Amino acid sequence: MRTLFPMALIAVASTPATAQDAQAPLTAASPDGSIVLTIAIDNDQRPTWSLSRKGKLLVAPSKLGFIMTDRIALQRGFAIESVERAKGDTRWEQPWGERRFVRDHHEELLVRFRQNQDWGGHRMNVRFRLFDDGVGFRYELPEQPGLTTAKIADEITEFDIVPKGTAWWITGGEWNRYEQFYQKTAIDAVSTAHTPITMRLEDGTHLAFHEAALVDYAGMWFKRIEGQKFRATLSPSSRGPRVVRDLPFDTPWRTIRIADDAAGLVESDLELNLNEPNKLGDVSWFKPMKYIGIWWGMIRGDWSWAEGPQHGATTERTKRYIDFAAKHGFGGVLVEGWNKGWNGNWFGHGDEFSFTEATPDFDLKAVTDYARKRGVQLIGHHETGGNIAVYEAQLEEAMKLYGRLGVGTVKTGYVADAGGIIAPGDTLGTTRMEWHDGQRQVQHHLKVVETAAKYHVAVNPHEPVKDTGLRRTYPNWVAREGARGMEYNAWGAFANGPDHEPTLVYTRMLSGPMDFTPGVLSLEGANHAPLASTRAKQLGLYLALYSPIQMAADFIENLEKYPRELDFIKVAPADWSDSRLIAGAVGDYAIFARKDRNSADWYVGGVNDATARTLTLTFDFLDPGKAYTATIYKDGEGATYLTEARHRIAYETIKVKKGDSYKLWLAPGGGAAMRLASAK
Ligand code: NOJ
Ligand code: CA
Repeated sequence: MRTLFPMALIAVASTPATAQDAQAPLTAASPDGSIVLTIAIDNDQRPTWSLSRKGKLLVAPSKLGFIMTDRIALQRGFAIESVERAKGDTRWEQPWGERRFVRDHHEELLVRFRQNQDWGGHRMNVRFRLFDDGVGFRYELPEQPGLTTAKIADEITEFDIVPKGTAWWITGGEWNRYEQFYQKTAIDAVSTAHTPITMRLEDGTHLAFHEAALVDYAGMWFKRIEGQKFRATLSPSSRGPRVVRDLPFDTPWRTIRIADDAAGLVESDLELNLNEPNKLGDVSWFKPMKYIGIWWGMIRGDWSWAEGPQHGATTERTKRYIDFAAKHGFGGVLVEGWNKGWNGNWFGHGDEFSFTEATPDFDLKAVTDYARKRGVQLIGHHETGGNIAVYEAQLEEAMKLYGRLGVGTVKTGYVADAGGIIAPGDTLGTTRMEWHDGQRQVQHHLKVVETAAKYHVAVNPHEPVKDTGLRRTYPNWVAREGARGMEYNAWGAFANGPDHEPTLVYTRMLSGPMDFTPGVLSLEGANHAPLASTRAKQLGLYLALYSPIQMAADFIENLEKYPRELDFIKVAPADWSDSRLIAGAVGDYAIFARKDRNSADWYVGGVNDATARTLTLTFDFLDPGKAYTATIYKDGEGATYLTEARHRIAYETIKVKKGDSYKLWLAPGGGAAMRLASAK
């Protein structure tokens, strides 16, 4: 469990290397000594790293290095040339997020490896940071004679996991990107996984492998080689080498969260700590908010993105949504299909999209003027169909337009199959096909975010590259999709299944905020297809799946039918000063306690899988000496996602104080939400 720490801990120190310190094997330990890293050179003069925790070997000696397309691999013939040690204990503030202050407490070891001339004579530095809740390391290729541009075919970075255990994962390099069900298998039955990949070892230790600060590099997939040995493999590129970079440069950090329990995994800020500080300065122009949108009707097929009688994005409907937002305190209204280019089969026809021209029945200026007067923002939409060549050509003008009209956030979209991103080629008018998480697309997303920032626009990509904590550096990168979202429930009965969200909490959500789009209070997709959710679970999602922009996705007419639930959605914050997982198990259930960033109120809630269960929650997180009024929304007696009883919900109001406990029954596919309002 997270504990608070004093304000004034600020220390960064670095110790010069001694000749003796540069002899392998080298060790370094995390601040509390529990995690120990060992660096060695094996019999083939290959650098290796290994890791133990509390005296137990977690990662056996694992190789480091690169395969190159134009020279012998940076793998053999290495010796340690020098090392440098440093430590840091600082605290930094997030402009928005799951918690206000983040502590960065680590020990650092920089190892400079040098190859002998026989093997190429290259230099390769690896920087390790050891935290009490995990480890990160990255390669740093320094300027050096004979290697000006690195053409990386793949990484050799290995992770040879020792204890047996279970993994939750999705497949890397699949046609549908990250929009898959999580598989639960033995670790030695994983194939190639996206990250984060979550593991629970036999002794209960929880691990999550991921990466931090993915900038100008290809996304890492986690590929099993044999047994429980994995290797980083990079997303492909049309150019041959998966990464091309001029030296000097640093790779993203390869990260491992390590914790005794699921809470330790979920509450870790490892990747954020490994990202660079905010580069944008004051970003108070972005305000966390709840939003509604002209969307559920499209995704269900009732309305169309295309022009015509079913067109969703009309001036008249948008004004009605703005009125609803103003009345109920929603900050934004998303409007999809407002622009030209949707009329044909837009999937695969991204060349037809205009990002500045509206359809004839949508008056962008009138609608944004109307929104401004009512204190609401339009949330813009840029679907590219994966054609970033066309999008990049219009990007500056498109963001400038949104900035001028006060459209504070844009949802982008890259609907295309694997390897289906159409990127600008080398000569004018030519294109190349790229992967969703290849180096070119990684560059693209940052370009969008940086361009948007100039015009004070925040970005929420769908079909994105996975989150690697870049919101710290670019706080206008507020959310993304990157998993099966609510949209799947529009297309079939129980389409996401009852286990999906309690799995997302411990997998996808470890990477950062998700625009899941909860709040389908009618519990219905197209043709009355039921959601694998009780009504209370829809409210629990606002606590379980964090985003600083939280949608209430249902039709406004449906939201209005459930005034008590709508009341909860209206008050639920999208910005917290603290967040803790107070009960949960990977893939089964997750209950959070989160403290409002702007008041003394706490909120508690979360989601359950298909198994009914009773939990005893302890309110030991509350502030001492304060009285709270808890307004509780929970599964009603006999509720189950399986039948119409999914609508059974019970309401309760009680007084609570620190240390009290509360018995909570969760239905199959259920959930709960509570507001704990502090007495003034
Ligand atoms: C997929 C997105 O996830 C969805 O929200 C959006 O409506 C469509 N693409 C169209 O852009
Ligand atoms: Ca999607």
